[in-house]
Amino acid sequence: MKKFIVGNFKMNTTLHEFAKYLDEFLPLIKDCKNVVALSIPYTHLMLASQKLVATNVVYGSQNISTEEKGAYTGEISNLMVKDLGAYFTLVGHSEIRKKFRETNEQINQKIIRALSVNLKCILCIGETRTERNSNKTKMVLKKQLEVALKGLYENELKNIIIAYEPVWAIGTGKMPTVKEIEKTVEDIRQIIMDMFSQNSAEKICVIYGGSVNQNNCTNLLKIKNINGLLVGGACLDAKEFSNIVK
Ligand code: 13P
Repeated sequence: MKKFIVGNFKMNTTLHEFAKYLDEFLPLIKDCKNVVALSIPYTHLMLASQKLVATNVVYGSQNISTEEKGAYTGEISNLMVKDLGAYFTLVGHSEIRKKFRETNEQINQKIIRALSVNLKCILCIGETRTERNSNKTKMVLKKQLEVALKGLYENELKNIIIAYEPVWAIGTGKMPTVKEIEKTVEDIRQIIMDMFSQNSAEKICVIYGGSVNQNNCTNLLKIKNINGLLVGGACLDAKEFSNIVK
């Protein structure tokens, strides 16, 4: 089955650097059967719409506003992102949850906005180190999922990708063991089953993120019930990211 491999650029690369990156990256992965997705800065969406047409790479934004239009200085809406051909948006990344105090309720609004214009959502969830140490991982993920997915119809879940990213694994070189990830992904599917159905729990796409690189990706992709990876730092090197994708 095809894997969903996402590179999250975060706040990295100028437009010129991104163009050079694509020139190197695209030939390296052109025969790859996996789904490749780039989560890029808003300023790069227009270029992506030109350079990624007729390639096997989709692209999207790293966030959208809770609002559709109006007096919201500095915000970017669902429609603006969709207008530039984005396939998805990331929502609920822990860096935004933390730095901008984004709430699960706001994430829910963003998801509803995204789905209303046919943008898929990569919903990031994950526990902090303290929460894991005090055995609260499942409880935290349950709250994040229950609020973020509130009010969604079951048939909308096909447009949701759940990215399990333990906060303490992001950019640290640390990560849970394979067994721990497997157990957490099982928990996530169980929560989806309780909220929706067994069928949805089996079908929903769940990917893992946090310190993924070209050396650990193969083992991570062997984990039962994992449908792909969300890669941060390691996606910035075109050669390394192409190795992960392959
Ligand atoms: P790193 O791969 O750099 O740990 O980042 C993960 C991440 O936050 C992707 O969204």
